[in-house]
Amino acid sequence: MTSTSASSGTKTQTQTAATSAKKKIAVLGCGKMGTILLQGFLQHGLIAKGEAVATVQHEEHRRELSRELGGVTVTTDNRAAVHGAPTVLLGVKPQALPALLEEITPELAPDTLIISIAASTTTGFIQEKIGKDAHVVRAMPNTPAMVGAAMTALCAGRSVRKEHLETVKKLFESVGRAVIVDEKHMDAITALSGSGPAFAFVILESMAEAGVSVGLPRELATTLAAQTLFGASKLALETGHHPALLKDAVTTPAGCTIEGLIELEKGGLRVTLMNAIIKTTIRARELMNS
Ligand SMILES: NC(=O)c1ccc[n+]([C@@H]2O[C@H](COP(=O)([O-])OP(=O)(O)OC[C@H]3O[C@@H](n4cnc5c(N)ncnc54)[C@H](OP(=O)(O)O)[C@@H]3O)[C@@H](O)[C@H]2O)c1
Repeated sequence: MTSTSASSGTKTQTQTAATSAKKKIAVLGCGKMGTILLQGFLQHGLIAKGEAVATVQHEEHRRELSRELGGVTVTTDNRAAVHGAPTVLLGVKPQALPALLEEITPELAPDTLIISIAASTTTGFIQEKIGKDAHVVRAMPNTPAMVGAAMTALCAGRSVRKEHLETVKKLFESVGRAVIVDEKHMDAITALSGSGPAFAFVILESMAEAGVSVGLPRELATTLAAQTLFGASKLALETGHHPALLKDAVTTPAGCTIEGLIELEKGGLRVTLMNAIIKTTIRARELMNS
């Protein structure tokens, strides 16, 4: 397959490339998250480059992405991209989704599996737009998918069959962990694990800055902070122990750690983090209408 342009002169080429019989997935709105996921699916051999089509809105981005994904058809023509695609991944921002759904609906086959990663947008909303029997799975991944360490939550729309959910779970497990949840939890999950990496990076950066302030070289301080957060997370996941128990094991009576913990309490770290996730959940609930 060759990369294509949506300009009128190359429309025929776009249609040809995007209607290939080999097509397995169309990623519409292949921005930051769409690209991370598509690259993950490619790297882990779930799909081949010739079986994927990606779309973006702007021609300049199309050219860049086409270079980056070398071998994947990249176009600005959403309708041509979904034509004949058994699976369509929706990667646009929630606000852009209604118009995109209207655009592609005439081209969707009845059995198309739709995966939406858009925050805030329900499977019910998507079904209303494209047809009540559409198979819609909603997913909330996160950026650690880039290194195979994503946390993705999946929930099924009304007309999703068990095999659809298994197919989607397999796709997302190629880039990390995936869990199936009730849709009522998706906005909270958007805040906790979707936005969570941003909160974790602020903690990581702050720990590293503190290291610099007490005399550590910056690079060493950043490595120490990152590996410590990684190790603590791994320990919690692998032992299944309550975080409070794991914290107590580090905290010797009258030792150093308790002094730091007292400062964290004084600074309100816990309540600040809790409020951040609560506020983010509220924003996730209203994003679709903003
Ligand atoms: N970033 C995250 O950590 C994360 C995590 C979980 C879920 N999500 C969800 O993923 C979605 C995308 O987020 P993002 O951070 O990846 O945003 P992004 O980088 O801005 O990606 C959105 C992409 O959509 C393209 N686009 C917009 N309108 C289009 C249209 N009509 N047809 C085709 N392409 C179109 C844009 O193309 P141009 O670049 O050409 O304008 C852009 O590349 C959001 O719904 C978000 O809720 C994001």
